[in-house]
Amino acid sequence: MTGYGDFPGARPRRLRTSPAMRRLVAETRLNPAELILPMFVREGISEPVAVSSMPGVFQHTRDTLRKAALEAAEAGVGGIMLFGVPAVKDALGTQGTEPDGVLQVAIRDVVSEVGDAVVVMSDLCLDEFTDHGHCGVLDAQGRVDNDATLERYAEMAQVQADAGVHVVGPSGMMDGQVGIVRDALDAVGFEDVSILAYTAKYASAFYGPFREAVDSSLTGDRKTYQQDPANFRESLRELALDLAEGADMVMVKPALPYLDVLRKVADTVDVPVAAYQVSGEFAMVEAAAANGWIDRDRTIMETLTCVRRAGANMILTYWATEVAQRLGREG
Ligand code: PBG
Repeated sequence: MTGYGDFPGARPRRLRTSPAMRRLVAETRLNPAELILPMFVREGISEPVAVSSMPGVFQHTRDTLRKAALEAAEAGVGGIMLFGVPAVKDALGTQGTEPDGVLQVAIRDVVSEVGDAVVVMSDLCLDEFTDHGHCGVLDAQGRVDNDATLERYAEMAQVQADAGVHVVGPSGMMDGQVGIVRDALDAVGFEDVSILAYTAKYASAFYGPFREAVDSSLTGDRKTYQQDPANFRESLRELALDLAEGADMVMVKPALPYLDVLRKVADTVDVPVAAYQVSGEFAMVEAAAANGWIDRDRTIMETLTCVRRAGANMILTYWATEVAQRLGREG
Protein backbone atom coordinates (compact mmCIF):
# COMPACT_ATOMS: atom_id res chain seq x y z
CA MET A 1 0.00 0.00 0.00
CA THR A 2 1.34 3.45 -0.87
CA GLY A 3 -0.99 6.48 -0.83
CA TYR A 4 -4.23 6.86 1.08
CA GLY A 5 -6.10 6.33 -2.16
CA ASP A 6 -5.20 2.67 -2.02
CA PHE A 7 -7.10 2.02 1.19
CA PRO A 8 -10.62 0.62 0.91
CA GLY A 9 -13.20 3.35 0.86
CA ALA A 10 -15.77 1.26 2.62
CA ARG A 11 -15.03 -0.91 5.61
CA PRO A 12 -18.02 -3.04 6.61
CA ARG A 13 -15.80 -4.57 9.30
CA ARG A 14 -16.12 -1.36 11.37
CA LEU A 15 -19.63 -2.41 12.30
CA ARG A 16 -18.34 -5.77 13.53
CA THR A 17 -15.63 -4.51 15.87
CA SER A 18 -17.18 -5.24 19.26
CA PRO A 19 -20.01 -7.25 20.78
CA ALA A 20 -21.79 -3.97 21.61
CA MET A 21 -21.52 -2.75 18.02
CA ARG A 22 -22.68 -6.06 16.61
CA ARG A 23 -25.60 -6.04 19.01
CA LEU A 24 -26.53 -2.53 17.98
CA VAL A 25 -26.61 -3.24 14.26
CA ALA A 26 -28.16 -6.72 14.36
CA GLU A 27 -31.03 -6.86 11.88
CA THR A 28 -32.72 -9.86 13.45
CA ARG A 29 -33.42 -10.50 17.11
CA LEU A 30 -34.98 -13.43 18.83
CA ASN A 31 -37.66 -12.88 21.40
CA PRO A 32 -39.16 -15.52 23.72
CA ALA A 33 -42.66 -14.33 22.80
CA GLU A 34 -42.32 -15.61 19.26
CA LEU A 35 -41.25 -19.12 20.27
CA ILE A 36 -43.77 -21.95 20.41
CA LEU A 37 -43.00 -25.13 22.32
CA PRO A 38 -44.37 -28.39 20.89
CA MET A 39 -45.18 -30.82 23.74
CA PHE A 40 -46.24 -34.45 23.88
CA VAL A 41 -48.58 -35.96 26.44
CA ARG A 42 -49.20 -39.68 26.67
CA GLU A 43 -52.18 -41.37 28.19
CA GLY A 44 -51.80 -44.00 30.88
CA ILE A 45 -48.22 -43.47 32.05
CA SER A 46 -47.15 -42.60 35.56
CA GLU A 47 -43.64 -41.37 34.71
CA PRO A 48 -42.57 -39.29 31.72
CA VAL A 49 -40.99 -41.31 28.90
CA ALA A 50 -37.86 -39.94 27.25
CA VAL A 51 -37.90 -39.78 23.46
CA SER A 52 -34.56 -41.40 22.68
CA SER A 53 -34.03 -39.67 19.33
CA MET A 54 -34.82 -36.27 20.86
CA PRO A 55 -32.60 -35.69 23.91
CA GLY A 56 -34.43 -33.64 26.52
CA VAL A 57 -37.88 -34.22 24.96
CA PHE A 58 -40.44 -36.34 26.81
CA GLN A 59 -43.81 -37.91 26.44
CA HIS A 60 -45.34 -36.22 29.45
CA THR A 61 -47.74 -37.42 32.06
CA ARG A 62 -50.60 -35.05 32.86
CA ASP A 63 -48.63 -33.88 35.84
CA THR A 64 -45.27 -33.28 34.17
CA LEU A 65 -47.02 -31.64 31.22
CA ARG A 66 -48.44 -29.01 33.55
CA LYS A 67 -45.05 -28.46 35.16
CA ALA A 68 -43.22 -28.17 31.84
CA ALA A 69 -45.91 -25.83 30.52
CA LEU A 70 -45.46 -23.62 33.57
CA GLU A 71 -41.69 -23.63 33.11
CA ALA A 72 -42.18 -22.55 29.48
CA ALA A 73 -44.58 -19.80 30.51
CA GLU A 74 -42.21 -18.54 33.17
CA ALA A 75 -39.45 -18.38 30.58
CA GLY A 76 -41.72 -16.16 28.47
CA VAL A 77 -42.46 -18.60 25.66
CA GLY A 78 -45.31 -17.27 23.51
CA GLY A 79 -47.15 -20.46 22.69
CA ILE A 80 -47.46 -24.18 23.32
CA MET A 81 -48.47 -26.72 20.68
CA LEU A 82 -49.94 -29.90 22.15
CA PHE A 83 -49.75 -33.40 20.70
CA GLY A 84 -51.57 -36.31 22.34
CA VAL A 85 -50.57 -39.97 22.38
CA PRO A 86 -53.59 -42.14 23.23
CA ALA A 87 -53.40 -45.50 25.01
CA VAL A 88 -55.57 -47.08 22.32
CA LYS A 89 -55.45 -46.39 18.58
CA ASP A 90 -57.97 -47.53 15.99
CA ALA A 91 -58.76 -47.10 12.31
CA LEU A 92 -60.87 -43.96 12.78
CA GLY A 93 -58.69 -42.33 15.42
CA THR A 94 -61.63 -42.36 17.80
CA GLN A 95 -59.66 -40.95 20.73
CA GLY A 96 -59.08 -37.77 18.76
CA THR A 97 -62.73 -36.85 19.13
CA GLU A 98 -63.55 -38.22 22.58
CA PRO A 99 -64.26 -35.32 24.95
CA ASP A 100 -62.03 -37.04 27.52
CA GLY A 101 -59.39 -38.13 25.01
CA VAL A 102 -55.79 -37.46 26.01
CA LEU A 103 -55.42 -34.32 23.93
CA GLN A 104 -58.62 -32.73 25.16
CA VAL A 105 -57.62 -33.46 28.77
CA ALA A 106 -54.19 -31.93 28.09
CA ILE A 107 -55.75 -28.82 26.57
CA ARG A 108 -57.89 -28.32 29.68
CA ASP A 109 -54.93 -28.88 31.98
CA VAL A 110 -52.59 -26.54 30.14
CA VAL A 111 -55.19 -23.83 29.62
CA SER A 112 -55.98 -23.85 33.33
CA GLU A 113 -52.28 -23.82 34.23
CA VAL A 114 -50.91 -21.17 31.85
CA GLY A 115 -53.75 -20.16 29.53
CA ASP A 116 -53.67 -16.51 30.57
CA ALA A 117 -49.98 -16.10 29.78
CA VAL A 118 -49.45 -18.38 26.81
CA VAL A 119 -51.37 -19.13 23.63
CA VAL A 120 -52.42 -22.78 23.78
CA MET A 121 -52.52 -24.61 20.46
CA SER A 122 -53.39 -28.17 19.52
CA ASP A 123 -52.42 -30.39 16.65
CA LEU A 124 -55.54 -31.14 14.64
CA CYS A 125 -54.66 -34.37 12.88
CA LEU A 126 -55.52 -38.04 13.12
CA ASP A 127 -52.10 -39.67 12.81
CA GLU A 128 -51.44 -39.80 16.54
CA PHE A 129 -54.79 -41.55 16.99
CA THR A 130 -55.00 -44.03 14.11
CA ASP A 131 -53.66 -47.58 14.26
CA HIS A 132 -52.46 -47.33 10.64
CA GLY A 133 -50.68 -44.06 11.41
CA HIS A 134 -52.12 -42.02 8.53
CA CYS A 135 -53.36 -38.48 8.99
CA GLY A 136 -56.85 -39.45 7.88
CA VAL A 137 -59.28 -42.31 7.59
CA LEU A 138 -58.86 -44.90 4.85
CA ASP A 139 -61.24 -45.96 2.10
CA ALA A 140 -61.92 -49.58 1.09
CA GLN A 141 -58.75 -49.60 -1.01
CA GLY A 142 -56.61 -48.37 1.86
CA ARG A 143 -56.16 -44.88 0.43
CA VAL A 144 -56.51 -41.82 2.63
CA ASP A 145 -60.05 -40.61 2.03
CA ASN A 146 -59.93 -36.83 1.85
CA ASP A 147 -63.55 -35.94 2.39
CA ALA A 148 -64.30 -38.58 5.01
CA THR A 149 -61.27 -37.24 6.86
CA LEU A 150 -62.61 -33.69 6.71
CA GLU A 151 -65.65 -34.82 8.68
CA ARG A 152 -63.38 -36.20 11.38
CA TYR A 153 -61.38 -32.95 11.43
CA ALA A 154 -64.57 -30.93 11.86
CA GLU A 155 -65.45 -33.01 14.90
CA MET A 156 -61.91 -32.74 16.27
CA ALA A 157 -61.97 -28.97 15.94
CA GLN A 158 -65.15 -28.79 17.97
CA VAL A 159 -63.97 -31.02 20.83
CA GLN A 160 -60.62 -29.23 21.00
CA ALA A 161 -62.36 -25.86 21.08
CA ASP A 162 -64.74 -27.19 23.71
CA ALA A 163 -61.71 -28.09 25.81
CA GLY A 164 -60.66 -24.44 25.63
CA VAL A 165 -57.88 -24.36 23.05
CA HIS A 166 -57.01 -20.94 21.61
CA VAL A 167 -55.61 -22.05 18.26
CA VAL A 168 -56.04 -25.25 16.28
CA GLY A 169 -53.35 -26.43 13.90
CA PRO A 170 -54.74 -28.61 11.11
CA SER A 171 -51.64 -30.50 9.97
CA GLY A 172 -52.98 -33.37 7.89
CA MET A 173 -52.71 -31.73 4.46
CA MET A 174 -56.21 -32.73 3.35
CA ASP A 175 -57.71 -30.51 0.67
CA GLY A 176 -60.25 -28.14 2.18
CA GLN A 177 -59.22 -28.75 5.79
CA VAL A 178 -58.96 -25.10 6.79
CA GLY A 179 -62.40 -24.27 5.39
CA ILE A 180 -64.14 -27.18 7.06
CA VAL A 181 -62.48 -26.46 10.39
CA ARG A 182 -63.48 -22.80 10.20
CA ASP A 183 -67.08 -23.73 9.39
CA ALA A 184 -67.19 -26.34 12.15
CA LEU A 185 -65.89 -23.87 14.73
CA ASP A 186 -68.21 -21.06 13.67
CA ALA A 187 -71.22 -23.38 13.62
CA VAL A 188 -70.93 -23.97 17.36
CA GLY A 189 -69.96 -20.47 18.46
CA PHE A 190 -66.18 -20.73 18.47
CA GLU A 191 -65.54 -17.89 16.04
CA ASP A 192 -62.73 -16.65 18.31
CA VAL A 193 -60.70 -19.84 18.02
CA SER A 194 -57.92 -19.22 15.49
CA ILE A 195 -56.52 -21.48 12.81
CA LEU A 196 -52.79 -21.90 12.33
CA ALA A 197 -52.74 -23.55 8.92
CA TYR A 198 -49.96 -25.97 8.06
CA THR A 199 -49.81 -24.39 4.64
CA ALA A 200 -46.61 -25.64 3.12
CA LYS A 201 -46.03 -29.01 4.71
CA TYR A 202 -43.61 -31.25 2.95
CA ALA A 203 -43.36 -35.05 2.96
CA SER A 204 -40.08 -34.83 4.83
CA ALA A 205 -37.60 -37.34 6.19
CA PHE A 206 -36.93 -34.78 8.91
CA TYR A 207 -40.08 -35.94 10.75
CA GLY A 208 -38.36 -39.22 11.69
CA PRO A 209 -37.88 -38.64 15.43
CA PHE A 210 -41.45 -37.29 15.78
CA ARG A 211 -42.73 -40.73 14.82
CA GLU A 212 -41.07 -42.10 17.94
CA ALA A 213 -42.42 -39.22 20.00
CA VAL A 214 -46.02 -40.11 19.12
CA ASP A 215 -45.53 -43.91 18.94
CA SER A 216 -46.56 -43.76 15.30
CA SER A 217 -47.63 -46.99 13.69
CA LEU A 218 -47.15 -45.70 10.15
CA THR A 219 -45.52 -48.17 7.79
CA GLY A 220 -45.73 -46.39 4.42
CA ASP A 221 -45.29 -42.69 3.80
CA ARG A 222 -47.44 -39.57 3.43
CA LYS A 223 -46.54 -38.67 -0.12
CA THR A 224 -50.13 -38.70 -1.41
CA TYR A 225 -51.05 -35.80 0.86
CA GLN A 226 -47.89 -33.97 1.96
CA GLN A 227 -45.95 -31.96 -0.60
CA ASP A 228 -43.03 -33.09 -2.69
CA PRO A 229 -39.78 -31.44 -1.50
CA ALA A 230 -39.01 -30.74 -5.15
CA ASN A 231 -41.85 -28.23 -5.41
CA PHE A 232 -41.90 -24.51 -4.67
CA ARG A 233 -44.82 -23.03 -6.63
CA GLU A 234 -47.14 -25.65 -5.19
CA SER A 235 -46.73 -23.95 -1.81
CA LEU A 236 -48.10 -20.71 -3.24
CA ARG A 237 -51.17 -22.57 -4.40
CA GLU A 238 -51.65 -24.11 -0.96
CA LEU A 239 -51.14 -20.67 0.54
CA ALA A 240 -53.82 -19.05 -1.60
CA LEU A 241 -56.28 -21.82 -0.72
CA ASP A 242 -55.59 -21.64 3.02
CA LEU A 243 -56.05 -17.87 3.08
CA ALA A 244 -59.25 -18.11 1.06
CA GLU A 245 -60.54 -20.77 3.46
CA GLY A 246 -59.90 -18.56 6.49
CA ALA A 247 -56.43 -19.27 7.87
CA ASP A 248 -55.45 -16.73 10.54
CA MET A 249 -51.79 -17.71 10.47
CA VAL A 250 -49.81 -19.86 8.08
CA MET A 251 -46.89 -22.20 8.56
CA VAL A 252 -43.98 -23.57 6.60
CA LYS A 253 -42.63 -26.93 7.70
CA PRO A 254 -39.86 -28.10 8.04
CA ALA A 255 -37.95 -24.86 8.54
CA LEU A 256 -34.26 -24.82 7.69
CA PRO A 257 -34.32 -26.83 4.42
CA TYR A 258 -37.27 -24.70 3.20
CA LEU A 259 -36.11 -21.13 3.82
CA ASP A 260 -36.78 -20.24 0.19
CA VAL A 261 -40.42 -21.17 0.64
CA LEU A 262 -40.56 -19.34 3.96
CA ARG A 263 -39.13 -16.15 2.45
CA LYS A 264 -41.62 -16.22 -0.39
CA VAL A 265 -44.58 -16.89 1.89
CA ALA A 266 -43.51 -14.10 4.25
CA ASP A 267 -43.22 -11.69 1.34
CA THR A 268 -46.61 -12.68 -0.03
CA VAL A 269 -49.02 -12.63 2.90
CA ASP A 270 -50.28 -10.11 5.43
CA VAL A 271 -50.98 -12.70 8.15
CA PRO A 272 -48.44 -13.95 10.71
CA VAL A 273 -46.09 -16.62 9.41
CA ALA A 274 -44.81 -19.53 11.47
CA ALA A 275 -42.02 -21.98 10.74
CA TYR A 276 -41.71 -25.39 12.38
CA GLN A 277 -38.20 -26.47 13.24
CA VAL A 278 -39.05 -30.14 13.21
CA SER A 279 -37.83 -33.15 15.14
CA GLY A 280 -35.15 -34.13 12.64
CA GLU A 281 -33.69 -30.63 12.58
CA PHE A 282 -33.53 -30.78 16.36
CA ALA A 283 -32.07 -34.31 16.44
CA MET A 284 -29.33 -33.54 13.91
CA VAL A 285 -28.00 -30.66 15.99
CA GLU A 286 -28.23 -32.62 19.24
CA ALA A 287 -26.48 -35.64 17.72
CA ALA A 288 -23.65 -33.64 16.18
CA ALA A 289 -23.21 -31.67 19.39
CA ALA A 290 -23.16 -34.84 21.49
CA ASN A 291 -20.27 -36.00 19.32
CA GLY A 292 -18.44 -32.76 19.90
CA TRP A 293 -18.67 -31.91 16.22
CA ILE A 294 -20.47 -28.59 16.54
CA ASP A 295 -21.03 -26.01 19.26
CA ARG A 296 -24.55 -26.86 20.43
CA ASP A 297 -25.67 -23.49 21.81
CA ARG A 298 -24.25 -21.45 18.96
CA THR A 299 -25.81 -23.76 16.39
CA ILE A 300 -29.21 -23.57 18.04
CA MET A 301 -29.15 -19.77 18.11
CA GLU A 302 -27.91 -19.60 14.52
CA THR A 303 -30.64 -21.88 13.19
CA LEU A 304 -33.35 -19.88 14.94
CA THR A 305 -31.90 -16.56 13.85
CA CYS A 306 -31.75 -17.72 10.25
CA VAL A 307 -35.35 -18.92 10.31
CA ARG A 308 -36.38 -15.52 11.68
CA ARG A 309 -34.26 -13.73 9.09
CA ALA A 310 -36.00 -15.68 6.33
CA GLY A 311 -39.31 -14.19 7.43
CA ALA A 312 -40.85 -16.27 10.21
CA ASN A 313 -42.73 -14.25 12.83
CA MET A 314 -43.05 -17.32 15.04
CA ILE A 315 -41.00 -20.48 15.36
CA LEU A 316 -42.08 -23.83 16.71
CA THR A 317 -39.00 -25.35 18.30
CA TYR A 318 -38.32 -28.07 20.84
CA TRP A 319 -35.70 -25.72 22.30
CA ALA A 320 -38.26 -22.99 23.04
CA THR A 321 -38.00 -23.04 26.83
CA GLU A 322 -34.23 -23.31 26.91
CA VAL A 323 -33.76 -20.53 24.37
CA ALA A 324 -36.31 -18.28 26.09
CA GLN A 325 -34.44 -18.76 29.37
CA ARG A 326 -31.14 -17.93 27.68
CA LEU A 327 -32.58 -14.82 26.03
CA GLY A 328 -33.94 -13.77 29.42
CA ARG A 329 -30.52 -14.09 31.02
CA GLU A 330 -28.79 -12.23 28.20
CA GLY A 331 -31.37 -9.42 28.37
C1 PBG B 1 -48.81 -34.63 11.94
C2 PBG B 1 -47.55 -33.96 12.34
C3 PBG B 1 -46.25 -34.43 12.13
C4 PBG B 1 -45.40 -33.48 12.69
C5 PBG B 1 -46.20 -32.49 13.25
N1 PBG B 1 -47.52 -32.80 12.99
C6 PBG B 1 -45.78 -35.68 11.55
C7 PBG B 1 -45.96 -35.93 10.11
O1 PBG B 1 -46.52 -35.12 9.38
O2 PBG B 1 -45.53 -37.00 9.68
C8 PBG B 1 -43.91 -33.56 12.68
C9 PBG B 1 -43.23 -32.65 13.64
C10 PBG B 1 -41.80 -32.95 13.84
O3 PBG B 1 -41.18 -33.75 13.12
O4 PBG B 1 -41.23 -32.34 14.76
N2 PBG B 1 -49.71 -34.70 13.00
